[in-house]
Amino acid sequence: MSATYELRGNVAVITMNNPPVNGLGHETRLGLTNGVERAQADAAVKAIVITGAGKAFSGGADIREFGTPKALAEPNLLSVILALEASSKPVVAAIHSVCMGGGLELALGCHYRVASPGTQVALPEVKIGLIPGAGGTQRLPRVLGVETALNMIVSGEAVKSEVLAQLPGQRLFHKIIEGDLMVGALAYAAEVADVRPLPLVRDLKVSHPSADAYFQFARNMVGGMSKNFPAPLKCVDAVAASTRLKFDDGMKLERELFTALMFTPESRALRHAFMAERATTKIPDVPADTPVRAVNKLAVIGAGTMGGGIAMNFLNAGVPVVILEMKQEALDKGLAIIRKNYEAQVKKGKLKQDKLDARMALLSTTLDYADLKDADMVIEAVFEDMAVKEKVFQALDAVMKPGAILASNTSTLDVNKIAAFTKRPQDVIGTHFFSPANVMKLLEVVRGEKTAKDVLATVMQLGKKIKKTCVVSGVCDGFIGNRMIEQYSRQAGFLLEEGCTPAQVDKAMEKFGMAMGPFRMGDLAGNDVGWYIRKRRYLEKPNLRYSKTADLLCELGRFGQKTGAGWYDYAPGKRDAIPSKVVTDMIEAHRKTLGITPRKISDDEIVHRLVYALVNEGAKIVDEGIALRASDIDMVYLTGYGFPLHRGGPMCYADTVGLFNVVATMKRFAANPLDDREFWQPAPLLARLAAEGRTFS
Ligand SMILES: NC(=O)c1ccc[n+]([C@@H]2O[C@H](COP(=O)([O-])OP(=O)(O)OC[C@H]3O[C@@H](n4cnc5c(N)ncnc54)[C@H](O)[C@@H]3O)[C@@H](O)[C@H]2O)c1
Repeated sequence: MSATYELRGNVAVITMNNPPVNGLGHETRLGLTNGVERAQADAAVKAIVITGAGKAFSGGADIREFGTPKALAEPNLLSVILALEASSKPVVAAIHSVCMGGGLELALGCHYRVASPGTQVALPEVKIGLIPGAGGTQRLPRVLGVETALNMIVSGEAVKSEVLAQLPGQRLFHKIIEGDLMVGALAYAAEVADVRPLPLVRDLKVSHPSADAYFQFARNMVGGMSKNFPAPLKCVDAVAASTRLKFDDGMKLERELFTALMFTPESRALRHAFMAERATTKIPDVPADTPVRAVNKLAVIGAGTMGGGIAMNFLNAGVPVVILEMKQEALDKGLAIIRKNYEAQVKKGKLKQDKLDARMALLSTTLDYADLKDADMVIEAVFEDMAVKEKVFQALDAVMKPGAILASNTSTLDVNKIAAFTKRPQDVIGTHFFSPANVMKLLEVVRGEKTAKDVLATVMQLGKKIKKTCVVSGVCDGFIGNRMIEQYSRQAGFLLEEGCTPAQVDKAMEKFGMAMGPFRMGDLAGNDVGWYIRKRRYLEKPNLRYSKTADLLCELGRFGQKTGAGWYDYAPGKRDAIPSKVVTDMIEAHRKTLGITPRKISDDEIVHRLVYALVNEGAKIVDEGIALRASDIDMVYLTGYGFPLHRGGPMCYADTVGLFNVVATMKRFAANPLDDREFWQPAPLLARLAAEGRTFS
């Protein structure tokens, strides 16, 4: 039973005990109802205290039960709360540390609530596309007032207990207990043991002096801020109902809204992303208790675009960093950019000056490899050239202390080859940051053939420390993200040849939800990067079909924003993409040389050709073991490539459409003589799952 029962004098204490956060799994729910029943039956018991063991009162639903029959098994949370309300003896919730979601709803079903200061109180269901489903939307307004409750429910953000306790007229907390919570809770239980009738939150009155106007205002605000997500507006509906309907009718409406949201693709996508994020840290052959190496000092090689950003991550986390460059000027330039970035944050009020000073004080520079000898880890971010990497890794091998981790930020080169430049390939790993490295959430952690398990475990833990979403990738050209984007770009090229303009493709993808369409993205990242990669690729694979349009663009010197022109024109100093006559003429001329008569292409076709290109390559990446699981691919795309969260990532989107339908559409694309037949052969994993009626997840 995940809850214990003990007698403290004439008070029964029920302690939820389901680590790590006392999730309200089936066993815990049973423990609660059994405990309440036992206390009713014992004439010596005058009152009941409910609390949580360890690090939380309760974090809410047990996510391990999501999607299993146990989640729905009786007693469900609603039944538990009814049992608490029905208790003939007062029930006091003794709340500490974390009280969220179902945990807060449980507490609201108790007659009294006492709490330690510093407790994080929240109803975060909106973050997984839902509304609270066990009375939160009806009870919280009754104890905190409509406006505070709605703010909490719509944002899902946590508020500290002592802040809530200070709100005028609040009835959430009967007492804030400084010092020992259990001592205070037992004393409070003794105080209220004989009070009758027992107070119930459901009996409290709730109203708003100008309800209609207020809820109209809330709907406008919330609707504008949550375009792709239905749940926030439903939060408003549910809270509005608490002022309009009788309690039980409000509960009924809450349940209906909750159940309807549960089946929306948006909630499915958010729940998927929530679970996917947690799954990324699980590496089957590297258990969670794998010992890690201490990283108390970091070295970075190269103070360019990436080196500077990478260094900032560690400075922000309080880790001292030394940067090495070839020339003093490069160091000065790199340092100035780091300082400028921090100063911009100070100007915006996001960083205090003393923090800036503290961070800069952690940073040192050198031109001499000997100065790296006391670093526990080094991240190389020099030019993307194997010969340069070879020199750097040989130098590092010579000076770094035994056991130091040697990481490369390469985006395209073979990490196994880089490891072989050293006599310690087990200590070598890839850390592929995304630009700007101090901002982007994604970190692809590239596991080489010989990378030691503790090195991988250390880097995953370090990634978490610098607040990245770390996804493990095997070694292959482009790793997970860029290997897939290459196929996406190939399709984008074919679309131009067949009749689209760059703006039409970008608009369709942005309407689908991508942060940026492929051509705007190319202009931002620099079209020359892909040009360079294609030159190499098509030397290796001369028969691979691709559109030469992007090469022609680069031959015109139109590399993107950095040259003031790319797929679009740019006014000096501006980033607005203006459709370009030069580019349209170039595309039309190119079509003529190919003998193509342009056709009208629908937004649907654009979206599906680009997204299914990602999906098919993603399936190959999972099949080859480059990615550990399909959901890792979704995390790469959600956190590194601006894929819309409400779609859950490319693989989740394919699941939502149905893999059978995805494959059928791919077959249609394969029949297009202007497309690449080979390209649309379903990856073996995709074909298999589609045939068996299964999904990636
Ligand atoms: N720019 C991106 O978007 C991006 C994204 C992910 C990964 N990467 C990878 O990161 C690495 C660095 O890219 P970048 O964009 O920062 O390049 P960059 O040209 O901006 O910076 C490279 C820096 O390395 C220095 N350098 C070169 N050789 C050196 C040596 N032998 N010793 C010490 N310093 C040396 C240069 O002086 C320069 O300051 C590359 O491997 C690149 O593929 C880049």
